This record gives sequence, C-alpha cells and structure tokens, in this order.
Amino acid sequence: MRINRTFLLGLIFSAAALAISAQAQTDTGTPHLQKQGNATQLIVDGKPFLIVSGELSNNAATSLENMETIWPKLVAANMNTALVGVTWAQFEPEEGKFNYVQIDGVINRARDNHMHLVIIWFGCWKNGTSSFPPYWVKKDYARFPRIQVYDGKTVSVSGPVELLSTLSDTTRDADAKAFAALMRHIKEVDGAQHTVLMIQVENEVGVLRDSRDRSPAANKAFAGQVPAELMNYLVAHKDNLIPELHDVWAANGFKTSGTWEQVFGPGKPASLIVPIQTNGEALGLMRHETDWTRLNWPSDEFFMAWNYARFLGKVVEAGKAEYNIPMYVNAWLQQPNHAWPGSFPSGGPLPEVHDIWRAGAPNIDILAPDLYVEQFDDVCARFSRNGNPLFIPETSTNYANALMAFGKYNTIAFSPFGVDGNRPIPLELANTYSILNQLTPIITAHQGTDSITAVRLRQGEAPKHIKLGDYMLTLTYTGRAMHIPPQNAGQRLPSPIFPPPTTTEPPLEAAAILISTGPDEYYFAGSGMTIDFAPNTPTGPQNVGLGDVQEGKFVDGKWVETRQISGDDDAQGEILILRNSILRVKLYRFP
Ligand code: DGJ
Repeated sequence: MRINRTFLLGLIFSAAALAISAQAQTDTGTPHLQKQGNATQLIVDGKPFLIVSGELSNNAATSLENMETIWPKLVAANMNTALVGVTWAQFEPEEGKFNYVQIDGVINRARDNHMHLVIIWFGCWKNGTSSFPPYWVKKDYARFPRIQVYDGKTVSVSGPVELLSTLSDTTRDADAKAFAALMRHIKEVDGAQHTVLMIQVENEVGVLRDSRDRSPAANKAFAGQVPAELMNYLVAHKDNLIPELHDVWAANGFKTSGTWEQVFGPGKPASLIVPIQTNGEALGLMRHETDWTRLNWPSDEFFMAWNYARFLGKVVEAGKAEYNIPMYVNAWLQQPNHAWPGSFPSGGPLPEVHDIWRAGAPNIDILAPDLYVEQFDDVCARFSRNGNPLFIPETSTNYANALMAFGKYNTIAFSPFGVDGNRPIPLELANTYSILNQLTPIITAHQGTDSITAVRLRQGEAPKHIKLGDYMLTLTYTGRAMHIPPQNAGQRLPSPIFPPPTTTEPPLEAAAILISTGPDEYYFAGSGMTIDFAPNTPTGPQNVGLGDVQEGKFVDGKWVETRQISGDDDAQGEILILRNSILRVKLYRFP
C-alpha cells in the first residue's frame, strides 16, 4: 500500500476514532492493543507506545534495595520501560496470604524514575522448570504433581528437573488464583496511572528432558482423541495454517479426528533419551546440526503445546477478569544444539505450534520470541505470521536489531535481557533508544503502511536498492560512524555506566530506519551507510539533489534542527551519510 498525506491523515483520524471508541469502552486509557494496517500497536493513555526497554535478571526486583542501584542505569540508557519479575514464592509465601510490598515498591520507584513496567509473572514455570512456586507448593508433590520423563532406565518423576505437570487442575487453579490476586492489586494501585503496561505470563514454558510428559494422566490424554476444539480450529483455519503444522497434518491425510499419533504421526519412542543438548547418541551429530529447522516428533510437541495453552489460558482468564491489559507468553527457541523437543522446552509457543496456542488460548495476546539466535530477521518474520504481533522480551544488545525490529517488523518491544547485570547497555544502543523515543510519534503514525521500513547491511554486502516514497534509494555499507550527537549522547548519560568500546574496528553490520513523510521528504535514523537517490518514475527530471539536510531532534514531538549538513558532509549535496542521529532530508529534482 502506497501512502500519501491524505491517506495518512485519514489513518491518523481513524486510529484516533478507534482509540476513542476503545477508551469509551474501558473509560480509561488502559493499555490495549489496536491494529493499524498490518501492524498491531500498544496504546497507552490513548497514544501508541513503543516499549524501549531492558529485562532485569530474574531476582532483581525481589529486593527493593537492590533495585536502587539499577534504576539509574535504566534511565541513563534512555529506557522507557523495564521488564521485571514478580515471583509466586514471594507474592504468596503462605497459601492465601499475599505480599504486596515488592510490587508496590517497584511501581512507586518506576514512577519516580518516569519509567513504565512490564511485569513477568514467575508462576509455575520459568525456563520450563518450576523453581519460582512457593515452598508450600514445591513440597506438596501429591497435591501438585510433577511431570514424568524417561530417564534412561524407566519412566519416572523428572528427577533433577523439577517441573510441575500441566495435567493438574489443582496446580492450574492455585497459579490462577495467585495471578488473579496480583492483577486485582495492580488494578487497584495502577488502574488509573498505567505504569504497568503489559504482563508476561510464566516464562519459557515447556517440558525438558523428554519430548512430552509421560505421567499416567498425560499418557491417558495422549492416547485419547485430539480434543474437538483443536480439530475444529484446524479445520476452520485449514487454508491459513502455519506451513510447518499444515505440512505435518497433510502428511497424515488431514484426518479430522483420531489420537494425537493418528492425526499428526508418531511421537518419540519413550526409550529414546533427549539429552540437554541434542548432540547425544539419539539421533547423531549430523541431525543435531540440521534438525533445528524442522519439526521432530510433532505429535509430542503439539500435545504439550495444547496442554500448556489450555493451562495458561485459564491463568490469563483469571488475571484478565481482574484487570484486562495485554498479556503475552515467551518462547525458548528451537536452535542448533537445542533441536529436539525436550532439548528446548517442548510445547512452548514456538512458531511451528502457534496455531495450537491460538486454538488453546485465544485470550493470550502475543506469542513472543526470546531472540538470541543469529537469524534475528527470520525469527521476527516467523513470529509475525497470521497477525501475531511481535514483542521481543529477551535479546542481546545489538542496536542494529533494535532498528530492524521497530522499523521493519513493527515490534511492540525490544528488551535485552540482564541489563542490570552481566549485559550492560552499550553506548550505541543507548543512543538508538534516545532516537527511538524521539521518533515514536512518526514511527507509530507510519507503522503498518509501506512508507516505513528498515534496512540492515553487513560488511562486504552489495548495496541494497529500496523503493520508498517517490524515489529508489541505494544504500551502501560504510562501517561505523563514530559521531554520536550531543543531544543523544549527552542527554542522560553519566559515562561510567557505559563500557568503553572494546574495539576500534567498524561493526560488521549497520542498520537504519527509513521513513517517507511527504513527496520529497524523508526521516532517516541509523548509521554505517550512505544513501543515494534516483526518481522511481520515468517522467520528469531524472537528477536528484539533497535540497535540505538537517540533523536534529524531536522535543515534545516537534522537530528541532541542531545542525545543517551540506558540502563535505553530504558529498557536495549528492550522497547522504547516516551518522547515528536523526536526519530530515528534502530532495529536489533537476534536468
Ligand atoms: C532465558 C530466560 O527466560 C531468562 O529468565 C534467563 O534465564 C535467561 N535465559 C538467561 O540467559
């Protein structure tokens, strides 16, 4: 879809109208999701919001005193939001008695620091395992049953991995009750102020050490029929299913009823051991290298996905009944060394099982990747299929990835993990965060249309050609631009917080967000590349000049020029050089 000013005005108007109708329903600016074109936006207090953030280490917020050393780092890195964990153990130390000290303290100090929060509910599961439930849950293994897996000799309780089973309504209801109490309290203290934007429900759920739960309850369910709700969903969405799942179902003849293995093919033989990393003898080294791009024993993974989705769907239902703000679940990805279900948490919300999660838990708003693998863009694309909004709760600190995620994949959040500890924020990312904060009104006005994109260029890669607005842009890799404009670098950055660059070599990649804002007007944000322009229409003058190039910043949403760029700094008006800042460019044509 090509965008013009009239269309954009219409879009902004209808977005505003939708926002008003959503507000009329909730009567507040309660955070909610809203579609714009093919993007989904988080709306907070009536305005689209980009979560420019970091996730704290798991126990950071279990101590308010500890948090005091962390807030300044987050503020200095230009973050507008922190992802912080609330543990079931600390929230409900005795059954039915809730402790609000931590959540209240974190909300209050976030407000003092002008920050928002996404709360991670560490309930039954974290990285598959069950280390965060309270002591009264952990020690009562009769009331709160564990999964069973094949341990090499026999099917037994999960041994060294402590993992609550999804097949227990008692466990589910206990988790849901605590989560509902948390959401009720957040509404009480924050329902008007909206410091808390969204909730992550559990963390990286799934079965480890085996491809599925092999407890008697699980075996009985696995030998039974695929639930009618799932079959009906697959039939109704047959033409639009995720291809990986579609192909498995097709290979088994599109059966519309039967057991899991009849409908989706054989599961893993119980006696085949899944090692922690998939380099064991079970399938051999070669397959361990290549298997991570395909489904292995899909029946087992689908069965677990369904059971986690049903369990979490009930937890989310209980929480949303108290306070309805957007909620997501996150996935530990299948990847080299973690190729087979069980070496990654089997049943987690991975792309190949998104349809099963959608069928089992339609109230979960987003299925999110913890994105540490090199194939960043591919994963963003796989997590954006069938309308799933992108939200990246955990990742590394690569600033190019942040630009790509917001500019090209419409992510709602970008959030490196461990920013309070072993993953400090590099200066380039803090600078990028400043730019993203400033550009939020423009990015969000254009999201979901073809007037915005982002581009990544790797060292040695051929120039890329991108049609945007009325011009063809040619983008060429140049390497690191050392200049960081004072309005971004100096703003809130006490320098000792940022580690010095470890190398003077240029980075191996560069990235930029490109936005066409009018017939001859663009905003560019990024670095490490040059751009030259050619008209993309055959008529009229064919030469293009850089008419006016301004480096600047947005103050309260208004453009303020800080520097003029011409002469040596833009190849005498011919080629634009990106420079870690925001550039506003006006072009002209001449014969
Ligand atoms: C992924 C988990 O979701 C996080 O809680 C944390 O354990 C990180 N891995 C550690 O890298």
